[in-house]
Amino acid sequence: MVIGDADRVVRSGDRPSVMPMALATADGELGGERQPMGTPIFGRDQEFAQLAAFLDAIPRGPRALLLEGQAGVGKTTIWRWAVERARAANYRVLSCRPAEAETKYSYAALGDLLDGVGEKDWPDLPAPQRRALDIVLLRDDEQGVRLDPRAVAAAVLASLRSLARTTPTLVAVDDVQWLDPPSARVLEFVVRRQQSEQIGVLASLRTPNAVGVPLNLDRALPGDAFSRIEVGPLNLGALHHVLRARLGAEFPRAVLIRLHETSGGNPFYALEMARDLVEHGSDGHANAVPIPRSLQELVERRLARLPRHTQDVLLTVAALSQPTRALVHAAAAHPETAEADIQRSVQLGLIETDANAIRFSHPLLASVHYSRATPDQRRALHSRLAAVVDDVEERARHLALGTAEPDGKIAATLEDAAGRARSRGAPEAAAALLDEACRLTPQEDVTARWNRIKEAAMCHYLAGDTDRARMLWEEMERSVPAGPARASALWHLVEFRHANLDPEEQIDAMLRALDEAGDDLALASEIHHTIALSLVWGGDAGRAQSHAESALRLAEAHGDPTAVALANTAAAVVRFLGGRGLSQDLIDRAIGLDWATRELPLENSPRLMCGLIVAQIGGSGGGPQRLCRGAPASARGWSGSLAADPLLLHERPRA
Ligand SMILES: Nc1ncnc2c1ncn2[C@@H]1O[C@H](COP(=O)(O)OP(=O)(O)OP(=O)(O)O)[C@@H](O)[C@H]1O
Ligand SMILES: [Mg+2]
Repeated sequence: MVIGDADRVVRSGDRPSVMPMALATADGELGGERQPMGTPIFGRDQEFAQLAAFLDAIPRGPRALLLEGQAGVGKTTIWRWAVERARAANYRVLSCRPAEAETKYSYAALGDLLDGVGEKDWPDLPAPQRRALDIVLLRDDEQGVRLDPRAVAAAVLASLRSLARTTPTLVAVDDVQWLDPPSARVLEFVVRRQQSEQIGVLASLRTPNAVGVPLNLDRALPGDAFSRIEVGPLNLGALHHVLRARLGAEFPRAVLIRLHETSGGNPFYALEMARDLVEHGSDGHANAVPIPRSLQELVERRLARLPRHTQDVLLTVAALSQPTRALVHAAAAHPETAEADIQRSVQLGLIETDANAIRFSHPLLASVHYSRATPDQRRALHSRLAAVVDDVEERARHLALGTAEPDGKIAATLEDAAGRARSRGAPEAAAALLDEACRLTPQEDVTARWNRIKEAAMCHYLAGDTDRARMLWEEMERSVPAGPARASALWHLVEFRHANLDPEEQIDAMLRALDEAGDDLALASEIHHTIALSLVWGGDAGRAQSHAESALRLAEAHGDPTAVALANTAAAVVRFLGGRGLSQDLIDRAIGLDWATRELPLENSPRLMCGLIVAQIGGSGGGPQRLCRGAPASARGWSGSLAADPLLLHERPRA
């Protein structure tokens, strides 16, 4: 299907490139400035032609396009153009525009993407996947449920496939750098599994950034299905038209040239400079060549001129992860003027509203405004927000940001919220919450503090921030008295120090940790399990045997599924490498509990370990059937199903 005639949208670079259908209708003169939603777009003919070709190609199979460029250069503007164009062509559009404040909330972006997708779109979804989606999308916020991120990913994949079967589908993510990590993992999983589906992924990315190509888009799709557009500066003519259309002002050519040079052709920067010039002139000489100011300074000046109560409302919008009218009203310091402040801010082009939702017209406005607030203002605001938001994680974060002095109750609330984030497959969010819980734990609650540091270290480790994890474990090694908490730190530190320790020194270090594990049976079991594997990989199956048995005995006495899974795996591996063959029973039990190890690094996976055993038998001769003889049916598919799995690998960061 061809969804548009590219010739129709390509016009001269100095005139409006296109007035997208839906965007064109919202035009209006307000407060001397036209609403961004309604203004024409200038100077992007080439980008539009590329985007149109990208959209037209979606019905022929999966593809992805990345819009890259510096802050304010115009990515969102053309991203929105593409989204509207896809909608006008009756494509199904799933879109999200994560904000910076949202980065830390698990599955925030996925919730937006799947807004409006429901039962009718996934008629055949198996019950566990349906359940996982309901929990993730908070349609069903069941406490204490351990969410399987792979069920979520599989469910999203199935839903998208089902949508795309009948309708070309565009997944559009603006500001992909702010996707919350669990949502990003799910999307990466989904993109990598596209084969012939009519699905397109359009993402915009602010540069420079440290993350490389987001969602691994460049490697996820075959052949030339991935392309990128470097969104560059506007030329002088286009910028002239932008300023005239948005500010209704004509500038002398010399001023225009200076604006263009100073802004580097960046329309956001140029608009801020030009607006400042219109309002202040240049040192009293209106329309003289402007003196360059930093973008930050310009935005600050503009915001500082607003009445105090309007600034307060804007600060509330900046601090919320998903601002709505209702929340802004509920948290307003001046409820009587809140609605008028919202209206005024819309008229000034500072925010946009869509039904109940509110967002800044540009993310730089939000970050500059938030950074201008004093610590006291921010704390007061976050305390008010904690009282009005529903989401457990967001409430906890506002509580933390609203509290300067230690507070045992708030620290405990943060710890609970972290537990929920971790069980939802969001160790990054859990780690951030636990760091705050540690900060707010009163000095005298020593045990609570150690436990929180221990949990924080583990969550940072699982989130891939191994430097921070190591720092916390070292802090525990130094400051925590002998006992289970310190034992756990000592045990983890062996992993970081193994390059400097010979194998016997590593075993000794783990035995010291074991001495301190005391009655923490799960921990003792896991330490025994690590010792057993270290010994057996080193060729000492004899000594490994007794540790494997202890690991199993302690794990079963405790009942923790992760410890039981690890202990069964270790017992199976030690038995096999000790020359005593495969134990169907051990392997079956280990693989049955694979789910309980999913958040751990990959080398802990029972499926991987048992798969290695199978591969080992394969290496000693015989065909695939013979390799798995004696192995349980569940083990026969291991080797094949162990193929690289982005979700699995992401959940299992390596040290
Ligand atoms: N080609 C254009 N024609 C008219 N106005 C434009 C154009 N490009 C950008 N603008 C205006 O410039 C401002 C910044 O654009 P936009 O928000 O698209 O930038 P961005 O690249 O998405 O920035 P960020 O990385 O900070 O999100 C907006 O007010 C937008 O309306
Ligand atoms: Mg943008």
